[in-house]
Amino acid sequence: MAIHTLLGLQWGDEGKGKIVDFLAPQYQVVARFQGGPNAGHTLEFDNKKFVLHQIPSGIFREDVINIIGNGLVLDPIVLKKEIINLENQGVNLRKNLFVSSKAHLILPSHKLLDTALEQNKGDKKIGSTQRGIGPTYQDKTGRSGLRVGDILRPEFEQKYKNLLEKHTQELKNLGVEKLEINQAEFEEAIDFLRQLNITNTEYLLADLIKEGKSILAEGAQGTLLDVDFGSYPFVTSSNTITAGALTGLGVAPQHIKETLGIFKAYCTRVGSGPFPTEQDNEIGENIRQIGKEFGATTGRKRRCGWLDLPALKYAIMLNGVTKLLMMKCDVLNDFEEIPICTHYELQNGEITDRLPYCLISEPVKPIYKIMKGWKTDLTNLTKVTELPQNLLDYVGFIEQELGVPITLISTGPDRKETILR
Ligand code: GDP
Ligand code: IMO
Ligand code: MG
Repeated sequence: MAIHTLLGLQWGDEGKGKIVDFLAPQYQVVARFQGGPNAGHTLEFDNKKFVLHQIPSGIFREDVINIIGNGLVLDPIVLKKEIINLENQGVNLRKNLFVSSKAHLILPSHKLLDTALEQNKGDKKIGSTQRGIGPTYQDKTGRSGLRVGDILRPEFEQKYKNLLEKHTQELKNLGVEKLEINQAEFEEAIDFLRQLNITNTEYLLADLIKEGKSILAEGAQGTLLDVDFGSYPFVTSSNTITAGALTGLGVAPQHIKETLGIFKAYCTRVGSGPFPTEQDNEIGENIRQIGKEFGATTGRKRRCGWLDLPALKYAIMLNGVTKLLMMKCDVLNDFEEIPICTHYELQNGEITDRLPYCLISEPVKPIYKIMKGWKTDLTNLTKVTELPQNLLDYVGFIEQELGVPITLISTGPDRKETILR
């Protein structure tokens, strides 16, 4: 059959967890392909709420195989906690969860490095989640990392010691003399990981594809945080775009048949970096309170602003988006007017709908089209035909500008608060 990818088109937290869970019954496999515990994917159903960090969001659907792909950086301590927490709530997941032997391991010393590197950046902090993501990907590309498959080998202990020695020196250079590491906790987590289904998931996926299974690849973060195309250096350390699904799962491009692009009806960003449509004012504060825009992983305030069409067009282009999913429409229910940024004005006065090389050295001024608010509570609405006309106009305008159909409208955090169009 085919692989579909589901990717965030903004700065993350678009609602990927909710939608992967919603769509999972249509697939036999859900696979994460990049990132790690920096992700926080929230799911709500049956009056329960879960936040997943490394486990794919198909885990609550019976018979769906969930794969942690080679493109992830995996924190075994976080994984153990996640699994035990889910099991305590009655979720039986070990049979259907597979971990790539080629995913890289986040060590406790990677987390110390992440924190120390941020502290040394002074006022140029990335706003990293400090989960060890950057240093672990650095060791991966620097060819000194440890992989999940290593924990099954007798050389693991020595390899671990060597890497810890390297990190100790690096931390010393950053002014950290004493390493606060709970060694026993790490070793217990590694033992726990050894008991899971560790395999070369690229072969597993190839077999599943041959058997005609359909696969949903679940992105983490968002396109504007991509290490190549995001607002570098205020990005994460992986490729968050469709291309990342190929390398992060080991699948060939011809299998990708559909790319679902997910975005909020407005924009948010956690951490530092440029954000052209940011409303660092009462409007932004309003959106934050109504949308409960606080990080699912770190609890930090998310910065809020209006929808940015040039940025969305860029994300659609990079990912090859075939369908759009629009989230959190209900958050804008009470607004009289809702601006949408259609173009940027560059410093030389030029008007464009393309992103400049660098939004930091070339700041842009957003140009807005003002849309009328719908001033309607969307609770309990289940059909497109019941939606207020001003919301349909908002959707219609965005769709026309972007040239890709919006096939799903989300009106609340619960699985049920989802309208197909
Ligand atoms: P992810 O990282 O993309 O999975 O998104 P997060 O879970 O970090 O953040 C999305 C937040 O919005 C979560 O708290 C969701 O429960 C919530 N959410 C998802 N869809 C909707 C929606 O349509 N309306 C509202 N009000 N909340 C939503
Ligand atoms: P999900 O999957 C939103 C942001 C951080 C920081 C930058 C780099 O839940 O959408 P990192 O820890 O990766 O080195 O941080 O990226 N960031 C996210 N923002 N959602 C996420 O994941 C994020 N993961 C990382 O805030 O600005
Ligand atoms: Mg999130």
